[in-house]
Amino acid sequence: MDQYFESYEELDIHQLMLSDKKRVLTYKNAIFNMKKEFEGKVVMDIGAGSGILSIFCAQVGAKKVYAVEASMLAKTIEQVSIENNVQDTIEVIHSKVEDIHPDSLEKMDIIVSEWMGFYLVHEGMLDSVLFARDNFLREDGLLFPAIAKLYATPCQLPSMYEFWDNICGVSMRCIGKEYRETKSMKPEVLLLHQDNLLAEGKLLAWLDLNCISIEEVNLLGGEDYVSVCEKDGKYQGICIWFAVEFPDGSELSTAPHDEATHWKQTAVVLPADIEVIKNEPIAFKLDLKRDTSNPRRYNIELNLLNAEEIEHDVPCNCHMTKCIVTRTYIEDQANNEGVLSTE
Ligand SMILES: C[S@@+](CC[C@H](N)C(=O)[O-])C[C@H]1O[C@@H](n2cnc3c(N)ncnc32)[C@H](O)[C@@H]1O
Ligand SMILES: [Zn+2]
Repeated sequence: MDQYFESYEELDIHQLMLSDKKRVLTYKNAIFNMKKEFEGKVVMDIGAGSGILSIFCAQVGAKKVYAVEASMLAKTIEQVSIENNVQDTIEVIHSKVEDIHPDSLEKMDIIVSEWMGFYLVHEGMLDSVLFARDNFLREDGLLFPAIAKLYATPCQLPSMYEFWDNICGVSMRCIGKEYRETKSMKPEVLLLHQDNLLAEGKLLAWLDLNCISIEEVNLLGGEDYVSVCEKDGKYQGICIWFAVEFPDGSELSTAPHDEATHWKQTAVVLPADIEVIKNEPIAFKLDLKRDTSNPRRYNIELNLLNAEEIEHDVPCNCHMTKCIVTRTYIEDQANNEGVLSTE
């Protein structure tokens, strides 16, 4: 058995996910808000785990719910169904979804799945959902969630920097330096207070799960970005988070300005910080590239760029002369139009 699925046999992981009330309730509300769409329908829950999402679907009146789970936890879903009196609706399939023959089941009206990993794509489980979409979902069937978005922005990381300045009166900056050198080698999962974001989040990827291909998920980001500082501060890393949207329009967001989830945020740590001031542009390139030897992993690469050498958004709020000139021109144009239309 794949080590990945074995890891999901630990009940601690399920307790952690089930304790994340925001996660569970956003799914529950999205399903219950669309009760009409579920009534009498056939649903597939990809990676049913403890069975929680399958139970919700049965509770809103689905005709049949296939709870697909590859790990040994599949054995317990049946008991959970009996405990909740929905055993006639839920059929457990103990298998990887990729190993189910497409002709062995009717087409699904709805696919639900909680597939998101740290920084959205860690674990690579989205591939399995896209496989299921292509092989089991009827045309115009619904996906829960339907859209995924990935964001990033420059940030301060006090736990990586200021923490080492004063430990009960003792300065340990030299250890901090070494600590950051190690931490900058791989992404760090942590909770960041919104006050530590230096700028608005840049949208790195907007994925319409109804139509994207697996290949399109091999590289996310991959562009040059310019973020404009909203305050003076210390540029110490890049904070990454994601959000997913459901067909009822609701959103599950893991942003620092939203209620915390077990995904927290992910930071790329800079080994040394850079002082920045309000309206200063910070240019960077961020790639999340699938690892060729392990498709469940991604390599995150951050390149610091020179803001003078790359194109900025139009209009851009930064303090560089070219952006002030463009902004003034656009404002003048808008004012002239205003004058013309009032004449
Ligand atoms: C993030 S957990 C979600 C569990 C549950 N749906 C919940 O919301 O609490 C993902 C589950 O999907 C299962 N899984 C991942 N890939 C799968 C695949 N290709 N086929 C079947 N199960 C899969 C894992 O074993 C794990 O139990
Ligand atoms: Zn600019």
